Amino acid sequence: MTLPFLDKRFVIVAGKGGVGKSTLCAALGLLAAKAGKRTIVAELNTKEKVPHFFGKPDSGYNAQEVRENLYSINIQPEPALHEYGLQKLKFERVYKLVFENEAMQRLIRMIPGMSELFLLGKAFDLERSRTRTGTPAWDLVIVDAPATGHGVSLLRLPQVILEVSSTGPMADEVRLMRDLLSDPRRTMINIACLPEEMPVKETLMLAEQVESILKIPTGFLFMNGLLPEVENDEERAWSAALRSDTEDPVVLRALDCLDGMARRQALQESYVELLREKTRMPLVEIPYLFQRDFGVEALEAIGDVLEKAMVAEAAATAGAG
Ligand SMILES: Nc1ncnc2c1ncn2[C@@H]1O[C@H](COP(=O)(O)OP(=O)(O)OP(=O)(O)O)[C@@H](O)[C@H]1O
Ligand SMILES: [Mg+2]
Repeated sequence: MTLPFLDKRFVIVAGKGGVGKSTLCAALGLLAAKAGKRTIVAELNTKEKVPHFFGKPDSGYNAQEVRENLYSINIQPEPALHEYGLQKLKFERVYKLVFENEAMQRLIRMIPGMSELFLLGKAFDLERSRTRTGTPAWDLVIVDAPATGHGVSLLRLPQVILEVSSTGPMADEVRLMRDLLSDPRRTMINIACLPEEMPVKETLMLAEQVESILKIPTGFLFMNGLLPEVENDEERAWSAALRSDTEDPVVLRALDCLDGMARRQALQESYVELLREKTRMPLVEIPYLFQRDFGVEALEAIGDVLEKAMVAEAAATAGAG
């Protein structure tokens, strides 16, 4: 069975800062690459994370192969603008005259969202770029979106621009971006979350905004960093007996740690329930991995979990339909 994100072309992972967006982008990328898809993970003007999982240096603006079939890029506004300008104006000299004069630079800085538009534009270009023979240069583009608020305004830009001006070459470009973002055959937005109060609040808000404002077809809600179940009933009885039996401070402290972790795990479970209840996106539970260095092995472990959950979800959907 094909994983539900593998038949898309533009897969976005959004969510609050620090919840694991880049990790999930890399894990999805690895799954796709293994399935034979030529995949690129695009980080947007950020401190790069994706190539480091694979032991590679920063990619910068030029796609770097980090694994067979898997590439990463960090899209920055200046080179994106430069590339766009050159595409339109053809000649470096003309580009310099038009874009590198002080007035134009000031204009670009003044218009809110203008430099972000070039970030999105480049990501969009990756999707539409074709090789000389006309086949897509990338089978799959995975976009590591900026943290929540910033991500929403970025993904909303095409709509906002079209509301202000709906004619002209700029509007035509932007309309194509909006069409891609709203196309369920090509695009899917996923939300990453942690089982903690603020990330859950932001996820509920983001899921609502995705549906009501962004209107981007939704994929999965990745609940990341779930602690394993600490004790079953039998073990609980055993540790209660041990506690009443011992005065050893080390054992007592270890038992306190276990209790603390069990309470935390119960709290995490309550957040999972809350999100299941309040959003319509299928929730995928991803365990917290106690690995010292978080590299390809960790990504593969997360990939296995994603794969199983997605297959189960697809089967359930097919059964329901
Ligand atoms: N399931 C997991 N188990 C353990 N550690 C994890 C897990 N997922 C992510 N991490 C770690 O959590 C940290 C944050 O993850 P990541 O950088 O992917 O978050 P992010 O949402 O992209 O952050 P930012 O908003 O800063 O870009 C990383 O150091 C990563 O290695
Ligand atoms: Mg990140």
